[in-house]
Amino acid sequence: MTEKRTLLYEGKAKNLYHTDDETIVLAEYKDQATALNGKKKDLIAGKGELNNQITSLIFRELNRRGVRTHFIEQVSNTEQLNTKVAIIPLEVVVRNYTAGSFSKRFGLAEGLKFPTPIVEFYYKNDALDDPFINDAHVKYLEIATDEEIAYLKKAALEIDEILTDIFAQIDLKLIDFKLEFGRLPDGEIILADEVSPDTSRLWDADNHHVDKDVYRRDLGDLIPVYQQVLAGLQTKFEGK
Ligand code: TMP
Repeated sequence: MTEKRTLLYEGKAKNLYHTDDETIVLAEYKDQATALNGKKKDLIAGKGELNNQITSLIFRELNRRGVRTHFIEQVSNTEQLNTKVAIIPLEVVVRNYTAGSFSKRFGLAEGLKFPTPIVEFYYKNDALDDPFINDAHVKYLEIATDEEIAYLKKAALEIDEILTDIFAQIDLKLIDFKLEFGRLPDGEIILADEVSPDTSRLWDADNHHVDKDVYRRDLGDLIPVYQQVLAGLQTKFEGK
């Protein structure tokens, strides 16, 4: 069994630990919720457990459908083993409908469907507030090459199709989401981080928010909403 060792990285929503295998890290999902780049912060008991289970289920499904990801296995309610990667410092956002910062930037209502999905890059840098960044900036900052930029966009759109299908099966519309990718020692780029209601916007048939906007916008309790997502996914994909 792979054993948990020393802390490698402390994040806002999870901690990463070394293991006795140098190619594997252990991710521990925490109950901390943050918004506005950490300016709003609360402990929400049970959130870590729910996100670990939701992310594990979704990554299992992505692996099953042929997407290369860092996910190995869930090892406890709050922990999972991941292949160690060097994270590319980009938040790759895919938008299927207007919402959030897109609606704000362009003065548009939320929930308008795009003819084709939009991929955006943000530079992962807390000190700079994760600024919006274009392809030329990504290349200039030597974050990724032209070929890698093209690959990230293609992979993000393929993952969008799969995630849209997964959530449609539990009657949720995938409005937008954020992905992070990492490099293996041989340079191969694979999907890393998480896919959960913390990192995506999900609307039900009545356009109610079933995601972290409930916390960001003070719309109610987060836990029942995340439980609803997990229960739906478990019923559909694990026959529970
Ligand atoms: P945005 O509309 O605020 O730019 O967010 C787009 C999507 O990306 C939304 O589903 C939330 C997700 N996201 C993160 O997971 N982390 C972040 O730091 C940001 C800004 C957005």
